[in-house]
Amino acid sequence: MAATAAASGRRRGRQEERRVTTRSGIDALLLLDDLHPSLRDESLDSMNFLNEVSTRYPDAISFAAGRPYEGQFDVELVHLYLREYRRYLIQQRGFDAERVRRAFFQYGPTKGLITELVARNLELDEGIRVDPESIVVTVGCQEAIVLALRALRADERDVVLAVTPTYVGLTGAARLVDMPVIAVRSGPEGIDLDDLADQVRAARESGLRPRACYLLPDFSNPEGVSLDLPTRRALLDLADDQDLLLLEDNPYGLFGMEDERPPTLKALDDRHRVVYLGSFAKTGLPGARVGYAVADQQVARCDGTSGLFADELSKIKSMLTVNTSPIAQAVIAGKLLCHGCSLIAANAAEIGIYRRNLTHILDGLSRRFADRTDVTWNIPRGGFFLVMTVPFVADDAAMERSARDFGVLWTPMHHFYPGSTGMRQLRLSCSLLDPELIDEGLDRLAAFIADHPPT
Ligand SMILES: Cc1ncc(COP(=O)(O)O)c(C=O)c1O
Repeated sequence: MAATAAASGRRRGRQEERRVTTRSGIDALLLLDDLHPSLRDESLDSMNFLNEVSTRYPDAISFAAGRPYEGQFDVELVHLYLREYRRYLIQQRGFDAERVRRAFFQYGPTKGLITELVARNLELDEGIRVDPESIVVTVGCQEAIVLALRALRADERDVVLAVTPTYVGLTGAARLVDMPVIAVRSGPEGIDLDDLADQVRAARESGLRPRACYLLPDFSNPEGVSLDLPTRRALLDLADDQDLLLLEDNPYGLFGMEDERPPTLKALDDRHRVVYLGSFAKTGLPGARVGYAVADQQVARCDGTSGLFADELSKIKSMLTVNTSPIAQAVIAGKLLCHGCSLIAANAAEIGIYRRNLTHILDGLSRRFADRTDVTWNIPRGGFFLVMTVPFVADDAAMERSARDFGVLWTPMHHFYPGSTGMRQLRLSCSLLDPELIDEGLDRLAAFIADHPPT
């Protein structure tokens, strides 16, 4: 008894020594410096910061959010999709009532319940032919990114390349798994292949192992740029020459200004160089949080056998999220089934809305800034985003001023670059708005820019 009391006294003493009083007088038990270094990294704050500013200025018109259009949201559809998936399980898969109940209510397979439907969709919309066994359904595309990077980061030599400016979710995920990111220039072609080759060479010369290059070949986030067909083919050749994987992230590919679009890298990938990262957030519904990875690469084991990279990713997933919510998968599956497994068909209305919005914002920019040679922007061929260049520093403080004093939000581009690049650029997204709000938002943006003399 006495020994126990002494031990608990010692424990209390050790805790008191560690307790720190903060400037606001609050006792803290933990030091940020003792937690994972990613928690001190700006990239992990980016999304929270941007969301937090939007919440503080709810009346500001937001060109910041890369969220899908909300006009088509209808709660009844969720019920319809669930019923449709149940009908499919019974009529096409031969499930009895007991198996259906279990499929909806119980834990599910780690790789997912709906891999066959995802494979059917990929073949139909993208011309990608893959065995459902090579698909892992994930909690959003974000989990697929984490799984791929976690698997590829074997030791401190392993690095990932990313076409930059890049999606903050990639940078943040890489930090979580302690994987350095090497920036590859983007440029008007969407990727500077010479720079990619140079970066790979330089990394190898300094003892590093570049494992993969992450990119969005279609209507990228944040720039809205796309790779043309010759660049796609040259990139695949380069990846093969350099023994590199490509992580192809494609949430916006369906939202081009024209029906005609170049094949995805995965559709062209006859050498299994591409891990395809899919998201249903923009094409299904974001609240379901369903995405997937297609990982059809063979992995050789030390006993001479081999298996799919998807199976290795699924092992990691089993320790991260166990499985993706079967209810959420059922909703996405139902939406696919309601449209013959085509997301192009399912998104006919949204595709029209995003084309209208992109045209509207580009016309609106031309009208308002035609006489300003120091204000420029790119002209994407689709997607949600475009990038404006302005003659002053467009950082977080400027964005906050813009929200507070002018009632308009946008995203500072420096969040998508390492270091202090992109300080005079801002990302505009038009996916969430209607033409009237785009007009009002652009008037406010023009007033904000007019208020900032070139520096
Ligand atoms: C380029 C890119 N990749 C991945 C994601 C995350 O997708 P999900 O919502 O499916 O996790 C996003 C979300 O905005 C994105 O823009």
